Amino acid sequence: MNFQVEKLDGPFGAAITGLDLREPMDEQTHAAVNKVFVDNVVLCFRDQHLEEPKDFFEAGKQLGEPMKQVVATYRHPEFDDIEVLTNRQTDERTNNTKPMTRGGTWHTDHSNMEQPPKATMLYAIAIPDTGGDTQFINMYMAYDALSDDMKKQLEGKRAFHSYLSSRAPRKLLERTEEEKAVSDGTWQPLVRLHPETNRKSLYFNQMRIEHVDGMEHEEGFAFMDKLYAHTYNPEFQYSHQWRLGDVLIWDDRASLHQATSNYDQSQLRYMHRMMLIGEKPVLA
Ligand code: SIN
Repeated sequence: MNFQVEKLDGPFGAAITGLDLREPMDEQTHAAVNKVFVDNVVLCFRDQHLEEPKDFFEAGKQLGEPMKQVVATYRHPEFDDIEVLTNRQTDERTNNTKPMTRGGTWHTDHSNMEQPPKATMLYAIAIPDTGGDTQFINMYMAYDALSDDMKKQLEGKRAFHSYLSSRAPRKLLERTEEEKAVSDGTWQPLVRLHPETNRKSLYFNQMRIEHVDGMEHEEGFAFMDKLYAHTYNPEFQYSHQWRLGDVLIWDDRASLHQATSNYDQSQLRYMHRMMLIGEKPVLA
């Protein structure tokens, strides 16, 4: 193996040094990197030089199949699969001129689609002096820590993920009619089986869940509130303190993530973001 792996500073996550993502990976390196990724849920590649969007795109292609950004508002002008993410962005399609903290509450990406991404990648181009972490919850850990009774209640259960739940803690970007047609909503298992590790993880998204099957509307929200309280536990969390040159990839099948806004907003935070196509979630 021609790279080094170290644990990140938290209950999960790993960092790789000694690998330049601009260089093509051979099959053995690719398999070794993927194993570090799926075993650790969050993986940071240190000291990368992917400022050119083409290089970021090619790096992403080495790790999976890029997924077109669903809402076009902040798509990169030359790359449909790259989104530009900054702390200066407003929802340009509305009259709202207040910058949004995009991704600012716990979620997993695009769980309202039948085939949500398997992974998301971020590359930091400008970061504030301190703060602006991206935070993660390990959903294997959250599942494993459930009581036997709760595991039983979750068996075979699905939840309906809409674009924006009526109980969502924040707003999302406004969509065009065309964008609505590809991301209208779908039922997803609440416990999913990971296709590569064969482990069970909780799978939900407070931004999107609108119904739990077999439950009245309010009863479903009360049930989910219990799950959120169990899951948003610091014991299952890792907070990534960005360094310039970091490329972060996380497993959307087994984690939640959120952006933080507790930093000096006069300083620019500027990222490129990509998602990699995933599988239809399988009920565990
Ligand atoms: C996201 O993908 O939700 C954004 C995360 C971040 O900006 O830290």
